[in-house]
Amino acid sequence: PANKKLLILPGDGIGPEVMREVRRIIDWMDRRRSVTFEIEEGLVGGAALDATGSPCPDETVAAARRADAVLFGSVGGPRWDSLPFDRRPELGILRLRKDLQLFANLRPAVVLDALIDASALRPDLVRGLDIMIVRETTGGIYFGEPRGIHLNEQGRRVGVDTEIYSEDEIARVARVAFDLARKRRNKVTSVEKANVMQSGRLWRAVVGEIGKAEYPDVELEHMYADNCAMQLASRPKQFDVVLGGNLFGDVLSDLAAALTGSLGMLPSATIGALQADGRRTALYEPIHGSAPDIAGKGVANPSAQILSFAMLLRLSFGMDEDAALIEQAVEKVLGGGLRTADIMAPGMARVGTSVMGEAVLRELEKLSS
Ligand code: NAD
Ligand code: IPM
Ligand code: MN
Repeated sequence: PANKKLLILPGDGIGPEVMREVRRIIDWMDRRRSVTFEIEEGLVGGAALDATGSPCPDETVAAARRADAVLFGSVGGPRWDSLPFDRRPELGILRLRKDLQLFANLRPAVVLDALIDASALRPDLVRGLDIMIVRETTGGIYFGEPRGIHLNEQGRRVGVDTEIYSEDEIARVARVAFDLARKRRNKVTSVEKANVMQSGRLWRAVVGEIGKAEYPDVELEHMYADNCAMQLASRPKQFDVVLGGNLFGDVLSDLAAALTGSLGMLPSATIGALQADGRRTALYEPIHGSAPDIAGKGVANPSAQILSFAMLLRLSFGMDEDAALIEQAVEKVLGGGLRTADIMAPGMARVGTSVMGEAVLRELEKLSS
């Protein structure tokens, strides 16, 4: 079979630290000859800014187009925080999403039994929790025009962002959510603020139309985003698939992360539209950022990055077995009592990034022998 083309973009802060642990898993898979990856590594974020002057060089976008899948680390950090807006490292991920039309970001929030003690909520509220947040990532207030900071007639500064959604943008991400729900527990909760926002009114209408016309078998519920935040923090098990726009999806998925124990646990996949050349790529990344407060200390939890790689194997390469193996290995390690600081609990052994990665590798060996 043809080699699988993989672009790796470690980025900044803890990105390269947690990506190193994925590289070890890839090397292990290569040694077992279960699969050969054709790997390219590229620059993005602050690392790309320092090297090329751009947070997302054209070469990185071209490499992403060539690749079958992209594994992304994280970008950003205090060193670059005072740069002009059009040179911020965060543009790295935003441009990749936009240029490759990666419009649907799937963010599963699963509470592992081994981590029930790390959740921000009581065990009875989160045991067995399994939510899928579907976040729109190429539109909304992240990209709408006009935007910027200008002076008004009184010479006072005014900051402007614009939330815009077309019905086609809403419809395509809604279909992703409905399709996923059919493979899960058959329920979609669509969130917006249709009570105060015009884009929210349209969102609710379009999702309702698609649901009625194409997915009458899927239960659809509309919920205001603020209420959804409250419900997530108090009765999260009512949710199956949660569908939201770019900004609400971002905020609600960090909240969902707190339910699972740590941002350091949650992977994501961003899938997209067919490109002009008939190809389709996808990008996988943890939902956490570059964690400047712990970067360089070797204490970051590599799980989210490793689990993002597992999602990549499953969704882009159809390697379900290998993906499941990696997920099991992570769960075993956690069940065995090894914990990075973010998910530390009484009676557990605190370890750093590389010991955690090493332990996952050992479990992989055991599970596959
Ligand atoms: P963050 O996700 O980087 O960190 C939030 C908190 O979670 C921090 O206390 C951090 O130490 C902790 N944390 C995150 N990942 C962890 C891990 N793997 N193991 C252990 N602890 C972990 O969010 P932030 O502090 O708001 O942002 C920091 C920088 O990252 C900013 O520049 C921001 O723009 C950027 N960011 C990038 C991405 C991305 O690249 N996709 C996502 C979010 C934030
Ligand atoms: C995320 C991040 C990004 C976002 C930033 C870094 C642009 O928070 O992927 O969740 O807001 O989309
Ligand atoms: Mn975010």
